[in-house]
Amino acid sequence: MRIGVLTGGGDAPGLNPAIAGAVERASMYGYEVVGLKRGWEALVVDDPESYAVKLGPEVVRTYSRLGGSMLQCSRTNPVSEKNDRTEKVLKNARKLGLDALIAMGGDDTLGAGAELSARGLNVIGIPKTIDRDLAGTEYSLGYDTALNVICNSAEQIAHSAQSHQTMFFLEVMGRHAGWLALRGGEAAFADVILIPEYPFEIQQLVSVLTRKMEKSRELGFDHLYKIIVVAEGAHIIGEEEVRKDAKLDEFGHYSLGGVGNYLKGLLEHDFHHTRYMALAYLQRGAPPSQKDRQMGRRFGNNAVEMIKNGDTGVMVALRKSRLRKVPLKEIKKSPSLVDVEKHYDTENLNVKIEWTGQDQ
Ligand code: F6P
Repeated sequence: MRIGVLTGGGDAPGLNPAIAGAVERASMYGYEVVGLKRGWEALVVDDPESYAVKLGPEVVRTYSRLGGSMLQCSRTNPVSEKNDRTEKVLKNARKLGLDALIAMGGDDTLGAGAELSARGLNVIGIPKTIDRDLAGTEYSLGYDTALNVICNSAEQIAHSAQSHQTMFFLEVMGRHAGWLALRGGEAAFADVILIPEYPFEIQQLVSVLTRKMEKSRELGFDHLYKIIVVAEGAHIIGEEEVRKDAKLDEFGHYSLGGVGNYLKGLLEHDFHHTRYMALAYLQRGAPPSQKDRQMGRRFGNNAVEMIKNGDTGVMVALRKSRLRKVPLKEIKKSPSLVDVEKHYDTENLNVKIEWTGQDQ
């Protein structure tokens, strides 16, 4: 048995432990594992051998502690309408002698995996996206590590915000889903949290912050500062998300970024001092947290187990706190977004904390 492994889309902490987990299980059964570099790119080129690396326990020995992906990532789309390279992928998989392929990624990588699986490639998916918005699973690799970075960073910038009496906008990732902003901001006691699922009026943002400042003054706070955690996909009602540039990737997405800076500019008239910082790739750059190491290892082990059982076209998913197999087709369903009514306080633009029945 020869198993290929690839990591597609953006890098995320937890990918390397998942690779190590797959190798761990494969070596128990005497299966061979081949790492394919740069995601789907490895299977659309003329010389796939040059993208292939043999992975054994001796190679992945240190992977559990490493962030990013030792196999590298790319946003190559092998099944795009404009340039469908399915035949090439199937041919290359045969050329490399692959019996099965473990694809680790988000909706784009695994969505392509679903289509290729329907065309005869034996694909098993492992969920990865720091946004934690993938349909069909309650966990995706990278989320926990990113959350810790966000929470710690929000607490760290508070020192500067406090010293300079600043309205501080901290921008975090989250294209469609506000989980990172919501849960990172919740843990750091952020004063305002802005999420893509709840477009807001700028006037409301000003009033919430003014009200909070007045309250702090009334209570005799020595330091008047506020921390606003804003997801990159958050936007004002009737406006589009703020884009980094006009380029589209192969899956048809724009890069988002800059909404914190935009809002900072709009609020400069109302408040004495405003600042902005985007956490950007620092969110993905930390070593995997305990949870991402553990989940990566479990996902990797179970992916090989599924291959052994003859499963194909499925993803290893976490559902109701258990690992299960879910058809890859489910991934293209709408992403798991924050349920505004349940989790978000629309009056105060912040997390809603229930006294009971709170879920993750
Ligand atoms: O999809 C996950 C994500 O973290 C999004 O929140 C973000 O828009 C995207 O990755 C940015 O990744 P890159 O700059 O690598 O394309």
